[in-house]
Parts: sequence; structure tokens; C-alpha cells
Amino acid sequence: MAEFTLPQNSKINPNGKVHKAIQNAKRVKSFRVYRWNPDDEDNPRLDTYEIDLDACGPMVLDALIKIKNEVDPTLTFRRSCREGICGSCAMNIDGTNTLACTKAIEDCKGDVKITPLPHMPVVKDLVPDLNHVYAQYASIEPWLKTDTAAPNRERLQSPEDSEILNGADGHGPAGCILCFCCSTSCPSYWWNSDRFMGPAVLLQAYRWIADSRDEATGERLDALEDPFKLYRCHTIMNCTNTCPKGLNPAKAIAEIKKMMVERL
Ligand code: SF4
Ligand code: SF4
Ligand code: FES
Repeated sequence: MAEFTLPQNSKINPNGKVHKAIQNAKRVKSFRVYRWNPDDEDNPRLDTYEIDLDACGPMVLDALIKIKNEVDPTLTFRRSCREGICGSCAMNIDGTNTLACTKAIEDCKGDVKITPLPHMPVVKDLVPDLNHVYAQYASIEPWLKTDTAAPNRERLQSPEDSEILNGADGHGPAGCILCFCCSTSCPSYWWNSDRFMGPAVLLQAYRWIADSRDEATGERLDALEDPFKLYRCHTIMNCTNTCPKGLNPAKAIAEIKKMMVERL
């Protein structure tokens, strides 16, 4: 059920702690970072960290790691690959959902505001609770399903069929890293995430529906034939505009809708 006002204990205090830059720092940039700890009674707040860019790597994730290592070890965030591959450092930077490891600090004008992915419960600081969206992902059964006997070698695919998954430009649905930047930018998902699958999970569903080696296409389409799971997408396109990997979840959703119509 949609809620249109924040409960009092969710309102963000914009004047959190300020961690000043070291003396003599010449190129100082302020990072205003969302902080919330479930173990105390305080509202969320924005803490300010002044960072000397001459002593910091080029990406926003470099700044967060520097803060955690050198200024404030209590700051909590996810990261792993630092190469835009694992999807774990997804967060909202300067008002856009993106990956901290591929977002250059020099592309952020003024202070850099960093908050968790929107409209997700927060575990702590910049860490969203992904249990629900992963349960939705599991529900689409994201693995190859076949009835025919297994061959003695790999199940082969023509270059044309593989291009449907990988994209002619390398931006096909198989490139999805499950960062959920798209789902958390989708207004339909904000209001109906209990029943609407959202763009990330639907793009993944399409990845298996479109796989020429998969033999469960009808069953997969049946599972999505529902007023909410698929049809809450109203082609607003936020998902495609925000995807840090340049993928097109809105197109994948449109392809599923087209397959639904064509099989009638
Ligand atoms: S195109 Fe559909 S899934 Fe993408 S943001 Fe819009 S409503 Fe959400
Ligand atoms: S489609 Fe793009 S934004 Fe959405 S989960 Fe996949 S990689 Fe992330
Ligand atoms: S740390 Fe893996 S995508 Fe950013």
C-alpha cells in the first residue's frame, strides 16, 4: 500500500556530523552521506565528510572507502568488484541511481549527496534490504528449463539467437548485473512492489523467455499473465534512463507484452 508522507522517525536530519578535511588540503570536496543505524533511536541524518581529492581515487566508491578506512569506520555500504560487474555498490548519487564504483567524482558538481537506493527498506546507512526483490527474482526461476534429454555436449545456440541475449551492441538482457537501480527508479514499482515485479526482474524473466535453448516459454509467460506482475509497467522509461549498464528493461517488458499478445 502506497504511503505518501514519511513517518516522523524517517525524516532526514540534514545537519548531521561534520568531519572536516585535514589541514592544508587543497582540493576539498564535501560528501553528504545518509546515515541510519537501526540500533539507536535516532532519525536518519546526512553526515558531511570533507575529502582531499588529491589523496583520493577518482570514483565515488573510492571516496566512500577512504571515509570508512580513514575517517569513520562505522559507515556501512556494500561493494565488491569495483568494476561495475557485481552490482552491489548501487546507491543514489546526486539524485540518480547508479554504481558508486563507476561514477566519477569529477562528474558531480558541488557537494556530492549520497543516499541508499530509494523506496527500499534500509538495513543500515547505504545498505538497502534486497530480500523482497530477490524473492521476486527467485520466483521467475532464473535458470535454463528443458524437457528434452540432455545432449552429450553443451546446448548450442546460433549467433543470431545469442545476439538476442547479448545484444548487437553488448547491451542485451544477459548484461544485467542485478543492481536494481532500475526497479528503485520506477514509480510503478515504488507504489506496487508487493505485486509488480519491476523492471530488473522482468528483464531477467525476458532473458530466459527469449533464450532459444529454454523449453519453458509458455510456462514462463503463464506465470507473468497477471494484472500486476507485468502490466503495472506504464512505459515511464525511468528504468532504461537510469540503468548504469546501458540496458533497456522497458524494451524487454514491451517484448514480453508482445509475446503475450502474439500467442493469443
Ligand atoms: S518503463 Fe515500466 S518498468 Fe520502466 S520505469 Fe517505466 S513503469 Fe517502470
Ligand atoms: S537492468 Fe540495468 S539497472 Fe536494472 S538491475 Fe539490470 S543492470 Fe541494474
Ligand atoms: S563494486 Fe561491483 S558494481 Fe560497484
